[in-house]
Amino acid sequence: MMHKILVLPGDGIGPEIIQEATKLLNVLRDHFGLSIEIEPGLVGGGAFDATGNPLPNETLQLAKDADAVLLGAVGGPKWESLEIALRPEKGLLGLRSELKLFANLRPAILYPQLAGASTLKPEIVSDLDIMIVRELTGGVYFGQPRGVKTLDSGESMGYNTLVYKESEIERICKVAFEVARTRNKQVCSVDKANVLECTELWRKVATRVGADYPDVTLSHMYVDNAAMQLVRAPKQFDVVVTTNMFGDILSDCAAMLTGSIGMLPSASLDANNKGMYEPIHGSAPDIVGKGIANPLATILSVSMMLKYSFKEPLLAEKIDLAVGKVLTQGLRTPDIYEIDTPGLRQVGTKEMGDAVIAALKE
Ligand code: IPM
Ligand code: MG
Repeated sequence: MMHKILVLPGDGIGPEIIQEATKLLNVLRDHFGLSIEIEPGLVGGGAFDATGNPLPNETLQLAKDADAVLLGAVGGPKWESLEIALRPEKGLLGLRSELKLFANLRPAILYPQLAGASTLKPEIVSDLDIMIVRELTGGVYFGQPRGVKTLDSGESMGYNTLVYKESEIERICKVAFEVARTRNKQVCSVDKANVLECTELWRKVATRVGADYPDVTLSHMYVDNAAMQLVRAPKQFDVVVTTNMFGDILSDCAAMLTGSIGMLPSASLDANNKGMYEPIHGSAPDIVGKGIANPLATILSVSMMLKYSFKEPLLAEKIDLAVGKVLTQGLRTPDIYEIDTPGLRQVGTKEMGDAVIAALKE
């Protein structure tokens, strides 16, 4: 079956890392029989500069017609003074929402070769394998009313709304339980049920869904404690399911356990496993154009695309193994380089991409 992939490099280091992922996709097509058609598109700040809209209609249409979307990153200092509705991030949020990509899977896996690159002690993080399931199209990110208004006193007041319908909580919890069934059969639902009514409902619904999965153990945790436990004893977690904003925060925290946020891919799926795939690290304005961005998170995002949208688990595993091989060879972009460790060699974005492809072909 021919798969149509929309590739959106976006801003900052997006184009640099997407170039490596595109090279990989071409190799998968030419040497591994993957039947794909790649189409480029504009999103984010670059799209705003070209069209006045961070999510041009044309891009949205292409995304709707595609079987999967591969995205680099959006945003940067150049666009920070724009009103929120026109910012690059709106392009990304618009895609998530318009494509109904409510389930965001963010694995935090520590490659054993990188145990020393984590800021935590190796024994705390070795063999770490957590899956954060983040709700992606609801919560305070999208809740109405929202805005900043002027009070009678003349003072400004900003407000956003945390809202979840039962159905939204139910479907994301189901995804978490299904994922847990393929892993260690533990789900930790993270909320702030001691303060926020909306997440009190979250806890109730999670418990109800859990009753349909007697083979999976469900626990609940307040988000502040979860943040602490993630850095104290991260291996206690298997699958974590949580709201949009808590998932945003906890997934950055979990990423750092693995040595570098430059290693972590993500999948954002709709009800039919159509997906958008992106590294979780963002546009990294500080290193743009230097050729040193780590392309592995994007390469691993391609692996997730093969696994979840194209049902090619063997090919996906080949990519994961190729990434493992280059790490074993000692190749490191600066973000995962360990000073004074023998056998390591600093490489740039392109050399890392080439090495993964070479390892894949071996
Ligand atoms: C992420 C990012 C986005 C988010 C930004 C860029 C809008 O931080 O994917 O985690 O907040 O969801
Ligand atoms: Mg984030």
